[in-house]
Amino acid sequence: MSTDHEFGSLSTDLKLSVVEEYLRAFTLALHSKFPELWYIDAFAGTGERTVRVAGAIATDLLPALEKRIERRRGSARIALDITPHFSRYIFMDKMRRHCAALRCLANEYPDRSIDIVRGDANEAIKAELASQRWVGKRAVMFLDPYGMDVAWSTLEAIRKTEAIDVWYLVSLAGMFRQATHDPKKLTADKRAALTRMLGTDGWEDAWYRREQSTDLLGQVDETHQRVADVAAMEQFVGKRLASLFPKVLPPRRLRNDRGAPMFSLFLAISNPEPKAIGLATRIGNHILKASMEPASRHKGGH
Ligand SMILES: C[S@@+](CC[C@H](N)C(=O)[O-])C[C@H]1O[C@@H](n2cnc3c(N)ncnc32)[C@H](O)[C@@H]1O
Repeated sequence: MSTDHEFGSLSTDLKLSVVEEYLRAFTLALHSKFPELWYIDAFAGTGERTVRVAGAIATDLLPALEKRIERRRGSARIALDITPHFSRYIFMDKMRRHCAALRCLANEYPDRSIDIVRGDANEAIKAELASQRWVGKRAVMFLDPYGMDVAWSTLEAIRKTEAIDVWYLVSLAGMFRQATHDPKKLTADKRAALTRMLGTDGWEDAWYRREQSTDLLGQVDETHQRVADVAAMEQFVGKRLASLFPKVLPPRRLRNDRGAPMFSLFLAISNPEPKAIGLATRIGNHILKASMEPASRHKGGH
């Protein structure tokens, strides 16, 4: 059975290194204060990823590079390699094959407490969070879907714990595709997908505008179209998250190899205590700032 799981671009390395650094700083800061520190990976994949690396022809300065296939660590293995360790790991994925690979991964770490849950992340997260008491426990959750799979009600369940810092990869490309430029093409399915993810249908008023203009002959022309660009959509998501979580950091935008914005990586903190917010914000901001390209660091943008 193949466990190949091929995904991502250069931004994938960046995303995973941001999360890895956060996990390391989180366990280092909290392992002596909280006996229970959990890592929950709700779109866990297989624990590794397969990357095709393009070859290059020789130049005067560099030798030729053969094209090759590399296996790199995915988020589940990255979390298991963090020291100090988490006290419990929960890996969720809806694919049977991915869960089988995660079980093999867990066998490599026999001294750890690892649970693998197969199923839809929204259902699995809600069931897991509701079955726990969250007093005296802290956790980091990673939501790393391909698209718009995370329902707003799942974020509400996470917020309710007051114990989880969540790294949430928001699909800008997914929202841009669903929110068609021409509102006549907004099908009921597209509307429902956006509303499920954003927890409101307010996106439609915010992103579309109806305008009337009158020409020289007095003919009235009405246009109705999407006026929101990717940045406006990202901002809308940021405001929605900030309406739910006590603290949300400015996101890190991730682009594909051709430079198109694909995702935004948000850190949302569910614990309302100033001490918890302060720590997570300090660590998160430090890592996010260090991850910026030099040009955007100067402009303060992403
Ligand atoms: C981008 S990959 C995750 C990669 C992983 N974080 C890593 O670094 O190796 C997304 C994963 O989510 C799983 N998935 C997709 N939809 C899901 C859902 N609704 N519930 C749970 N898992 C889902 C896919 O099978 C896939 O393994």
